[in-house]
Amino acid sequence: MSKFRIFIIILAIAIYYFVIHGRCEYKGDERLDGKTVIITGANTGIGKEAAIDLARRGARVICACRSKSRGEAAVEDIKNISGNNNVALKMLDLGSLNSIRQFAKDINAKEERLDVLINNAGLAGPAYRDTTEDGFERMMGVNHLGHFLLTDLLLDLLKKSQPSRIVVVSSNAHRMVSSMNLDDLMSEKSYSGTSVYGYSKLANILFSLEMSKRLKGTSVTINALHPGAVMTELGRHLDDYLQLPPFLNKAMRWTMSIFFRDSRQGAQTVICLAVDRNLESVSGKYFAECKISETTAAATNETEAKMLWDISEKLVNPSA
Ligand SMILES: NC(=O)c1ccc[n+]([C@@H]2O[C@H](COP(=O)([O-])OP(=O)(O)OC[C@H]3O[C@@H](n4cnc5c(N)ncnc54)[C@H](OP(=O)(O)O)[C@@H]3O)[C@@H](O)[C@H]2O)c1
Repeated sequence: MSKFRIFIIILAIAIYYFVIHGRCEYKGDERLDGKTVIITGANTGIGKEAAIDLARRGARVICACRSKSRGEAAVEDIKNISGNNNVALKMLDLGSLNSIRQFAKDINAKEERLDVLINNAGLAGPAYRDTTEDGFERMMGVNHLGHFLLTDLLLDLLKKSQPSRIVVVSSNAHRMVSSMNLDDLMSEKSYSGTSVYGYSKLANILFSLEMSKRLKGTSVTINALHPGAVMTELGRHLDDYLQLPPFLNKAMRWTMSIFFRDSRQGAQTVICLAVDRNLESVSGKYFAECKISETTAAATNETEAKMLWDISEKLVNPSA
């Protein structure tokens, strides 16, 4: 896809969301006193805003972050803004299977319960293919495989605490790809930052679909969501990727700042899926604007969901 086309698409998305799409505001008054929530990537953007809201509702919030300094600063903010001191930082790098195993081991040893796991952390569109510590293409490794292993390792605690929920922050970017790249999951044959982001977000939805089937008969639910077009740090690779002339870069940032929603607005569907009492038995669905949303044929393909699960399981080897 040409860089100019991507530029136009970003502007179109911004305007579409501003003009046509409503912005949901979750109004439910549910409390989470005595409950524990883990949010990955809670030091900024959507994750941090969700953390503030859930801490306000009385939850113990565990911020799973990869940077100590950014994580500590965020935890201070979350405590101050929410008025809840039961907010903890635990180190987690989703680009390292070792770090995920250490994190899960610590949680399973020290936490009594886990009521909500929010798989939020993610990165989008590095210009050049890069790999994680374990040799996975970075977006697939962090956005999908890291969360795949993390969820597996925390599942017993979620089951012990049921009714409990898993919330998966995906994206409408999954619509950019027509099927899962199962024959080239690591994008070794071809790499484009936008498509690979799309694959990783499609993988989030297929993971939720397959996991919901495996959780049948339990009171652990899992749902995926699109948060809207949100002005966060997610676009940090955009300038590198697009390499537009400076005036177009400025124009793009300006348009985004006007038309994209802020992080608090972007967190609304996350909060809704984490707390809405009406969703207690809803599982395996895709949400946007705090309600179930239509998705693509690729994102409802149960055969590919099962195939992706099997490949992911081999790659991360949860029982190692
Ligand atoms: N913004 C949007 O318009 C939009 C639209 C659709 C979907 N989403 C999804 O929303 C989620 C949150 O994104 P955001 O917009 O809030 O972006 P953001 O501001 O860039 O936040 C992303 C978070 O993920 C963390 N992260 C990245 N790599 C990680 C790793 N290897 N291990 C642990 N944490 C890692 C980041 O930590 P550092 O600060 O240390 O890098 C940061 O805390 C993502 O899954 C994204 O795909 C966003």
